[in-house]
Amino acid sequence: MQSLLELMGQAHEQLSQAASLAALDQVRVHYLGKSGLLTGQLKQLGKLSPDERKAAGQEINNAKQVLIEALEARRESLQAEALNARLQSEAVDVTLPGRGMSQGGLHPITLTIQRMSEIFGQLGFEMAEGPEIEDDFHNFTALNIPETHPARAMHDTFYLENGLLLRTHTSPVQVRYLMNHKPPVRVIAAGRVYRCDSDMTHSPMFHQMEGLMVDTDITFADLKGILKTFFREFFEVDDLETRFRASFFPFTEPSAETDITCVHCQGKGCRVCKNTGWLEVMGCGMVHPNVLKNVGVDSEAYTGFAFGMGVERLAMLRYQINDLRVMFDNDVRFLTQFH
Ligand code: FA5
Ligand code: MG
Repeated sequence: MQSLLELMGQAHEQLSQAASLAALDQVRVHYLGKSGLLTGQLKQLGKLSPDERKAAGQEINNAKQVLIEALEARRESLQAEALNARLQSEAVDVTLPGRGMSQGGLHPITLTIQRMSEIFGQLGFEMAEGPEIEDDFHNFTALNIPETHPARAMHDTFYLENGLLLRTHTSPVQVRYLMNHKPPVRVIAAGRVYRCDSDMTHSPMFHQMEGLMVDTDITFADLKGILKTFFREFFEVDDLETRFRASFFPFTEPSAETDITCVHCQGKGCRVCKNTGWLEVMGCGMVHPNVLKNVGVDSEAYTGFAFGMGVERLAMLRYQINDLRVMFDNDVRFLTQFH
C-alpha cells in the first residue's frame, strides 16, 4: 500500500508535467500499459492471501480509476491549450489598416476623346478608325494634294521606307471610310497623328478628331449647326458662339477655320485669346468634289462636310492647361488631378 501511494504520487506529478499529448500518452503507458507499473501491481495480487487480495485489489483498482480520470482531465486541458495557441497564432486583427490600393485614372487626352465621342454619338455619328502608318495615296493624293502641291511641305511629314509615312492628320480615314461605305455617312475618327514640329503649342505626336458627314443636300448650315451644338455641349456654355473664317485646305471647298467664344473670358478678351475674345479650335469645310471622285462617290448627287479638331487644344481649354507638353511628360502630380 505504501508503494501504491508513492506510485500514485509520482504518476500525478508526471502527468501534471506532461507538456504535450504525446508526453501524456507516455505517462499513461508507463503506469497503465500492459507492462505498466500499476498493471504490475495487479499482477502481484496472486502472492497475497485471499482476504488481503480483496482489499488490495480494491485499492489498486480505485487508484487506477483515479489515474484514468486524471489523465483524461489533463488530456482535455492540453487540447484546449493547443486550440487556444492555434487560435492566437492564426488570429486576424481586423482593426489593422488595409494595404493601400492606389486608384489609377485615365489620361486627360483619353477623357477628352471619350467626351467628344459621346457628344457626337448623341448627334448620330459612328466611330471609324484608320492606321497610323499610312501611304502617300490616303494621306495626300486622294485628298487632292498631288505630289507637287505646296501643302505637302506644310505638313512636316515623317517618312518611312517603301513610300510609307506616319499620318500627318486623321483625314485619310475619310478616304478609307468612303471607299468602303456608301453614303449616307456620318462618322468621327480620333487618333494619333505625327508632324516634325515641336514647341510650346506643337508636339511631334498629337491627337486629332476627324468628322465626316456625306449625304444628299448637306450644306454648310448643317456643318455649322452640328458644330455649334457640339461646342456648347463640350464646354457646357449655352450661349457659346462659333465664327467661321475663310481658309484653305486642298480637300475642302469652301474651307474655314472655326473660332469659338473664348471659354476663359466669355469673349471679353484675355491672355488666353490674346484679347480677341475668340479661340481657334479646328479646320473644316465642304468635302472637295475631287475627293468624292477619288473615292468613287458621285459628286453630283452627294455633298458633305468634314472637320478636323486638335484634341490637345480642346483638352487644354477645358482643363485650363497652358503648356501642351505636360500632356506627354507623364508627371504623376499632373496626371492624378484627373482621377
Ligand atoms: C488639318 O490637319 C486638317 N486635316 C483638318 C481638316 C479636316 C480640315 C477636315 C478640313 C476638313 P491643321 O493642320 O490645321 O488641319 O490641324 C488641325 C488642328 O490640329 C489644329 O487646329 C491644331 O489644333 C492641331 N495641331 C496641328 N499641329 C499640331 C501640333 N504639332 N501639336 C498639337 N496640335 C496640333
Ligand atoms: Mg493649322
